[in-house]
Amino acid sequence: MKITIVGPGALGSLFAALLERSKAKHEIWLLDKHPERAKKIASAGVCVEGASNFKQKVNITADAKDIGASELVIILTKSYDTPEALISIKPLLTSSANILTLQNGLGNMQLISEIVGDDRTVGGFTAHGATLLDVGRVKHSGKGETIIGKPNKRIFADLRQISAVLNEAGIVTRISKDIKGVIWSKLIINAGINALASVCRLPNGELLKHEGTREILRQAVFEATRVAKRKRIKLVYDDSLQKVESVCIATKDNICSMLQDVMRREPTEIDFINGAIVRQGKSCGIKTPVNEMLTALVETIESSYKKQVK
Ligand code: PAF
Repeated sequence: MKITIVGPGALGSLFAALLERSKAKHEIWLLDKHPERAKKIASAGVCVEGASNFKQKVNITADAKDIGASELVIILTKSYDTPEALISIKPLLTSSANILTLQNGLGNMQLISEIVGDDRTVGGFTAHGATLLDVGRVKHSGKGETIIGKPNKRIFADLRQISAVLNEAGIVTRISKDIKGVIWSKLIINAGINALASVCRLPNGELLKHEGTREILRQAVFEATRVAKRKRIKLVYDDSLQKVESVCIATKDNICSMLQDVMRREPTEIDFINGAIVRQGKSCGIKTPVNEMLTALVETIESSYKKQVK
């Protein structure tokens, strides 16, 4: 199978390296929007340290025409880059290619579906933790399950094949019939942790150690869960707060992805996480003041990077 991963960030680089070193020998490509960075990764390869330790040469280009038709395209860009990524992959798409999103936040699956339809859209979630230490250098901070599924709830041979390819590469994967519920379940975890950790500049575990952050996390999670319930989304866990707190403990030393963005003074995915909860809440008449405030604070951090005192 020819597989193209779009976005050589932390997870994109990690997945490309894991798939490339898989014994199954599929043709794996990374697609980058920056030609200079692509050249650097092409010559140095991807270096993974932490939960896995290895160095791997990868095929990488900034021009999708170098790759040609791919059976599977995995989008691992930041959510705000999805529209641009979907334009860049046009030379890769055949009438049967599947596009898989494993990005954070809400809305990516819908954008993909508008282009290739529900039958060839695959949504997903991965619990692998990864931090980009430098171009092509990834800290694999934790292994976890990956769940994939189609918005049409169908499980055809192509979905089983994608799951098999990921499993062969050591990316433990299972299929869900209710991928919307899976994506919302991850969204609530991110809504509880990411913005708060970014505003307070704390690793995930610290959020539970301070009365103030523990309470704000609780409120953000309750609001998001109420919205999910009103929208009749079936979450994969029974107790959202318990789940989010257990993720904080399991990833206690992690600098969450949003705080990594803030520390690099780059745009964040706030609009697709807490911002999405606020919009979804408005659409069904549920007030989400804590998520609204967290969104406004992170947006302020983003828009004032140049003015912040160190
Ligand atoms: O975005 C992240 O960093 C991760 O999804 C999570 C689960 C919050 C752990 O850091």
